[in-house]
Amino acid sequence: MDIAQAAKELKKIHQEHVLRWYEDVSEPQQRQLLGQIGELSFSKIPQWVQQYVKGPGAIQLPESFEPAPAYPAQPGPRQAKKYAEAVELGQNLIRSGEVAGFVVAGGQGTRLGFDGPKGNFPISPVRKKTLFQIFAETLLAASRKYGARIPFYIMTSPLNYQATVEIFENAGCYGMDKADIVIFQQGTLPNFGFDGRILMADKGRIATSPDGHGGSLKALYVSGAVEDMRRRRVEYLSYWQVDNPLVKLIDPLFIGLHALDRAEMSSKALKKAGPLEKVGNFCLVNGKITVIEYSDLPDAAAMRKNADGSLAIDMGSIGIHLINRSFIERLNAGGDFLLPLHKAVKKIPCLDEQGKAVHPDTPNGVKLETFVFDALPLASNSIILETLRQEEFSPVKNAAGADSAEVTHRMMIERAAGWLEAAGLSVPRTADGTVDCALEIAPDFALSPEEISARKDKIPPIKPGGKVYLG
Ligand code: UD1
Repeated sequence: MDIAQAAKELKKIHQEHVLRWYEDVSEPQQRQLLGQIGELSFSKIPQWVQQYVKGPGAIQLPESFEPAPAYPAQPGPRQAKKYAEAVELGQNLIRSGEVAGFVVAGGQGTRLGFDGPKGNFPISPVRKKTLFQIFAETLLAASRKYGARIPFYIMTSPLNYQATVEIFENAGCYGMDKADIVIFQQGTLPNFGFDGRILMADKGRIATSPDGHGGSLKALYVSGAVEDMRRRRVEYLSYWQVDNPLVKLIDPLFIGLHALDRAEMSSKALKKAGPLEKVGNFCLVNGKITVIEYSDLPDAAAMRKNADGSLAIDMGSIGIHLINRSFIERLNAGGDFLLPLHKAVKKIPCLDEQGKAVHPDTPNGVKLETFVFDALPLASNSIILETLRQEEFSPVKNAAGADSAEVTHRMMIERAAGWLEAAGLSVPRTADGTVDCALEIAPDFALSPEEISARKDKIPPIKPGGKVYLG
């Protein structure tokens, strides 16, 4: 896009101020700005301004919604046969190389207060392995177990792409083959002031922010990652969030149930800890599985009870999905695919009218983002598999308190202890039942409790207060 064209297009959408300082900046900055302008969705911005920036931008709550059905964590007698069949099918799909791992790691992780990509946060209890290291070692262990390549796709944002690439390079890709790691960037969306004008980060740069994890469905496509999957004949993408080290990355049961039911996008869910737990809620809307964020679900609906006193809407979303490559291709077939936008009112550093940098103390504008779970109703079919909190969910989100590293650390030790005890080994515990040692099971030692039984003889006796690394 050249300057004349940019000026014309911006004028049409009343955003001509974006070029206000064009003549004041260097040539490379001018080019950068023109590049950013070229990426703006000119046809959509006026409507975004009306709906989300000036308007309330609230999500339209469906008129009626019901609790969504889910496969239970433990099969009942009627499901046992299907679960066994699913595990076998899932294992076969992994063996035939049709499954890949995919982590969304483009978030800013501001709440944690950690410098650099969140995936580089050290979390394992004994060796202090980072989240990225745990994920890569788990994929490597699974790929050895099943005798198949399991590529690792990593979505970053322009804010942390370079740093993430360097982390993997410096770590020798944690033992994975470099060719099996594909790191790409998600898109961004412009930030707006409350008056509807696009904010400027500096004189030659529009203020933008990552377009949310929903942007992954487009970024996978435009970055060439989907093409890479097609070449490798990968059809199933196992999706998870970067903050959860307990996630079972490659789960034959989940993959098998998803494939048996011919689903295009599926989810794992947890029984909510209480009606108002801050997780997305799985609901059934017009027969389609849909997530309603906790902030959009009215308290009365969240508190609704069944006749037996249990919570009616009790399945919480934990950001674990299976997504078919063919589904992503279908969504992108029409070009410029975008999920519904969600509005966040934020403090956004920017330039004021005089071109002076402002770091506001109170919210001064709107960021827009998309959520991947909004693609669920677009899938031809979708299943939910319940999982257990202590086995699969402990996100590191905050510096202290709930969802902090300290809690995750303890959960990792508790899970490892549970696996050893299930195999008949004894683990020291204090009088109140807390595990009294630091315990870490490396992915190449065991990926599941069942694998512990087979390696019992390799496990030394554990002393109270001790530190044990099994790897
Ligand atoms: C999210 C879910 C919530 C779920 C919870 C479980 C949303 C809106 N809410 O909340 O339903 O119960 O996780 O832990 O998702 N990310 C990107 N690019 C972005 C934004 C985020 O890659 O532009 C990634 C982050 O790096 C992270 C994941 O998406 O891996 C989740 O983002 P985060 O903002 O931490 O979600 P939560 O608000 O914690």
